[in-house]
Amino acid sequence: MLEKDIKKVLVSTQEIEEICVRLGEQITKDYSGKKPLMVGLLKGCMPFMSELMKHLDLYMEVELMGVQSYHGGTASTGDVKITRDLDIPVKGRDIIIAEDIVDTAKTINVITKLLKYRGANSVEVVTLLDKPAGRVVDFEPKYIGITIPKEFVVGFGLDYDEMYRNLPYVGVLKEEVYTK
Ligand code: IMP
Repeated sequence: MLEKDIKKVLVSTQEIEEICVRLGEQITKDYSGKKPLMVGLLKGCMPFMSELMKHLDLYMEVELMGVQSYHGGTASTGDVKITRDLDIPVKGRDIIIAEDIVDTAKTINVITKLLKYRGANSVEVVTLLDKPAGRVVDFEPKYIGITIPKEFVVGFGLDYDEMYRNLPYVGVLKEEVYTK
C-alpha cells in the first residue's frame, strides 16, 4: 500500500544492512576500551539505531532523546524542540548521537552543543543519511552511512507528516503526495 507513494528506492534494505555492518565495525574499533553512551534522537533514529546496535561489540549504554525539527512539511523550520530529555547525566561520557539524517545540521548542532555544555567528554555523530546540499550550519558527522542528493526522503525512520517511518528502505516520495 505505502509503496504506491514512492517514486524510487534510494537506499535498499540490503544496502542499509551493509551500511550498519560497516559502521558497526568502525565504531567498535574506534571505541575499543571505552564505554560509550549511544543517544538516539527520536523518532527517526529507531530502525537505524536498532540495526546498528547489533553490530557494536562494545560495553555500551543506550539512551533516547526526543527531538522535533520538522513540523509536518518537507522543509526545515530551523526550530529544534526537545520533547523528551535524557534520564541520566552525561558528564564525562563518550557520546555517540544516532540520527536518521543530517540535512541543515541545525538539529545535530544544537544537540551536540547541549551535550558538551553538560560536560560530555566527547560527542560524535553517526547518521544513516547525509544530505550535505541542505547544510545551513557547517557540520560534518564523523560516521556517515550514505550521502544522498537534496531530495525529500521517507522510510526506515524518516517520515512525512508522521507517516512512512515503517518502510523497510529509504525512498523518494512522489511529489503529488505532499502537494495535494
Ligand atoms: P536538520 O536539522 O535539518 O539537519 O534535520 C534533521 C531532521 O530533519 C531529521 O532528524 C529528520 O527528522 C528531518 N529531515 C531532514 N531531511 C528529511 C527528509 O528528507 N525526510 C524526512 N525527514 C527529514
